[in-house]
Amino acid sequence: MRDPIHLLKDIDLTQARILELLELATQLKIAKKQGTERARLSRNNIALIFEKPSTRTRSAFEVAAQDQGAGVTYVDPASSHMGVSESVEDTARVLGRLYDGIAFRGFQQATVETLARYAGVPVWNALTDLWHPTQALADMLTMREHAGKPLTEVSVCYLGDGHNNVARSLLMTGALLGLDVRIAAPAVLHPDPAAVEAAAHAATRSGGHIMATDDIDSAVRGADFLYTDVWVSMGEPDSEWDARVEALRPFRIDANMLARTGNPKTQFLHCLPSVHDDTTTLGRHLHEQYGLNGVEVSDDVFRSPRSLVFEQAENRMHTIKAVLAMSLDPADRRTEGC
Ligand code: CP
Ligand code: NVA
Repeated sequence: MRDPIHLLKDIDLTQARILELLELATQLKIAKKQGTERARLSRNNIALIFEKPSTRTRSAFEVAAQDQGAGVTYVDPASSHMGVSESVEDTARVLGRLYDGIAFRGFQQATVETLARYAGVPVWNALTDLWHPTQALADMLTMREHAGKPLTEVSVCYLGDGHNNVARSLLMTGALLGLDVRIAAPAVLHPDPAAVEAAAHAATRSGGHIMATDDIDSAVRGADFLYTDVWVSMGEPDSEWDARVEALRPFRIDANMLARTGNPKTQFLHCLPSVHDDTTTLGRHLHEQYGLNGVEVSDDVFRSPRSLVFEQAENRMHTIKAVLAMSLDPADRRTEGC
């Protein structure tokens, strides 16, 4: 029996594996749109264990699995024993006997790694405190579709909390694929030095470039894409907001920030969810508290023709489907009839 093909963190990936996933996702996307997709995973069942809320990732796993004929069980924290009265190891051993693969979203990277160690089936990281690898795959596919040039010629500048999961995954996956990835953030919110070092090493091999800086103008100059994420991530205390707003205000993406790239074709990316207006409880609260209507991005940029956020969201599903196929379908059949 072959070893399970997990997706735990971007740093484990190779350039060849990412390109294979993007190609497979593209073929599966075309097949779905043409109505020619063939269900390859009909004898499979997957479990989604989510300790944190999700709109896109959960839906993407569910639709991807269902399109491919697989059964899905969603397990929320309140309805399982994991971590409360049953260890992660025991949970992994049990679910591994029932399911063909397990997606996990939660607070600690260590949990997804433990699941992978003991489940005996593929485990996929659906977001942890450190990494969000399925997001980065969708980001790469979206840039590849919309850049009008090869990814090795693309520059993307992420502005905001550069220390979070989305920034780390973007940096690492971008570096592996040879992109020019810039993280613009105050020094206290730069990615971990170890992540920067690993990305720099990958960029040396791929021909890419990486940069982590607090100098906004040098980071955004000429960028093909500006990317941002929420300023306080799930699992972080609300008390962080005061310091984050103060530190990150200069990094907010608005029309002026787009203009500062000097590139009239710069496009906008966001993993979502986004605080871009005051139609949500959080948006209203932050508007009242800090006078920001639209926090990490202004509403006009979010809704502008330069914004690719909903294309990105759709691509979560196509790329996750590729991940499921890569792990669960034998390699020689994967693209047959796509
Ligand atoms: N981008 C993302 O992971 O969205 P969800 O939190 O809705 O899954
Ligand atoms: N950095 C965000 C991403 C949400 C998709 C978080 O972890 O909450």
